[in-house]
Amino acid sequence: MNENIQFLQAFLKNPLKVGSIAPSSPELACAMIDGIVPAKDNVVVELGVGTGAITKYLQGILEDDESYLGIELDPDLVRSLRLKYGDLKIVCGNAVDTVEIHRRSGLGKVGHVICCLPFVSLPNEVGEQILLEIDRLMQRGCTFRTFQYAHGYYMPSAIKLREFMRSRYGRSKRSPLIVKNVPPAYTLTWSTK
Ligand SMILES: C[S@@+](CC[C@H](N)C(=O)[O-])C[C@H]1O[C@@H](n2cnc3c(N)ncnc32)[C@H](O)[C@@H]1O
Repeated sequence: MNENIQFLQAFLKNPLKVGSIAPSSPELACAMIDGIVPAKDNVVVELGVGTGAITKYLQGILEDDESYLGIELDPDLVRSLRLKYGDLKIVCGNAVDTVEIHRRSGLGKVGHVICCLPFVSLPNEVGEQILLEIDRLMQRGCTFRTFQYAHGYYMPSAIKLREFMRSRYGRSKRSPLIVKNVPPAYTLTWSTK
């Protein structure tokens, strides 16, 4: 099935959890993987894999299958991701359990978290739990990158995420506005390395 149609179907089924009507563009995907060097002991964890719009580009820079872990909530999307990316470890699960899912995967140390979750439309308590999981990974030393849509940049939950990360890891590195994306977005990166 066409990726855009599949994404739209997922959005119509669960708009608040998907949070966007279209998958990330190639321009946003490239900005999300910029400078990332995955390896067996520097695993990249992708939260909210969707239809694999970013995974497609990540796959091209993976050292091997042992350097990637994807977590996606929607079982229909996971089924289709497994057909497309059979070699990659993609778990049907909730990002609130990221640390445990990573532990069970048997993969090496997490070096990068690529977060595509729609914090703006997730329930507050879910967003807070996910931030605490990310914090646990960050304390073990890794980079965290997410994107925020320009139109939601000043919404309370978007500000809350930035304040949470800033209070622990300092100022983010923000990309220029990526206009070739629907909707336009910034990437934000924090690092403990
Ligand atoms: C904005 S889409 C991003 C999809 C894809 N990475 C992209 O950039 O096109 C957000 C994705 O996060 C997933 N998601 C939402 N809440 C989640 C959670 N708590 N745990 C795991 N995945 C979640 C949704 O099902 C959806 O596929």
